[in-house]
Amino acid sequence: ALISLRQLLDHAAENNYGVAAFNVNNLEQVQAIMEAAKETNSPVILQASRGARSYTNDIFLRHLILGAVELYPEIPVVMHQDHGNSMQTCLSAIRNGFTSVMMDGSLKEDAKTPSDFEYNVKITADVVRIAHAMGISVEGELGCLGSLETGKGEKEDGHGFEGTLSHSQLLTDPQEAAQFVELTKVDALAIAIGTSHGAYKFTKKPDGKTLAMDRIREIHRRLPNTHLVMHGSSSVPQDLQAEFRKYGGEMKETWGVPVEEIQEGIKNGVRKINVDTDNRLAMTTAIRKLLASNPSEFDLRKFMTPARDAMKKLCAQRMVEFGQAGQA
Ligand code: G3H
Ligand code: 13P
Ligand code: ZN
Repeated sequence: ALISLRQLLDHAAENNYGVAAFNVNNLEQVQAIMEAAKETNSPVILQASRGARSYTNDIFLRHLILGAVELYPEIPVVMHQDHGNSMQTCLSAIRNGFTSVMMDGSLKEDAKTPSDFEYNVKITADVVRIAHAMGISVEGELGCLGSLETGKGEKEDGHGFEGTLSHSQLLTDPQEAAQFVELTKVDALAIAIGTSHGAYKFTKKPDGKTLAMDRIREIHRRLPNTHLVMHGSSSVPQDLQAEFRKYGGEMKETWGVPVEEIQEGIKNGVRKINVDTDNRLAMTTAIRKLLASNPSEFDLRKFMTPARDAMKKLCAQRMVEFGQAGQA
């Protein structure tokens, strides 16, 4: 059944687990996640970015989700707007059947320039007022994601801030977080704690202290009833990178967020963990592999089947690692 993010994450908090929020753009990705959920008996969060909604079309997307709910009636499903940038985006998501929206007011409406606290509070509180009246949950964001190594924004991915950010902009301040939640009443809060979107997160092998764990603890201590969200949580596994390169993919040396650190975050209040890059890499690598080994093949299903299987495998693995397996 379709449920709200608040319903799912309250259950996750009571039972001390985290839930992966996987991005979806098409049929095969929805199928991969639902099959992984069925196999591991997991509740799921399917999330669509603005880019996904324009790529797929809202009507197709709505029917894909409704199809998933009909086909897997035993699995709780949250349909979430990822990185909404305006009231209009959040309202149109709600009209199209989403049960949860992210109002990302950490950036201005252009989704590139950091906003100020007052702007973020106002727009987020406005969305919460309307969404809550309809039983829809809201995720806000305080702090900008980007690289702590370089202070750089997220140019590589074409979204996020492109300039240089100060250390304080890159890490969420616990006191400000408490104030933000009090003023906006968000159900979930995305925090900046050392992660960034895309494949290029860290240039060195993580040392076990990649995330600002003390900050997560402190924010959770002040906000025990607000579910914390980790964006940019792909692990960009080295073996998957090697496979991608083996079949002609180009990727500079890079490291993602170690799963063990995400698990430590879950012990300290992190409930929603956003993963997109790992699935993109898994699917594309499977397609590259088939293209390389079967140059005469042109039945698209022959490419999409291993791609879907690769994503399913990765999703099932994360579901077990984050603890949502067995919780449906
Ligand atoms: O946060 C971004 C997600 O990875 C979705 O990316 O905006 O390219 O669909 P996208
Ligand atoms: P990754 O790029 O690390 O997969 O993060 C995805 C994300 O945060 C979507 O909102
Ligand atoms: Zn994100």
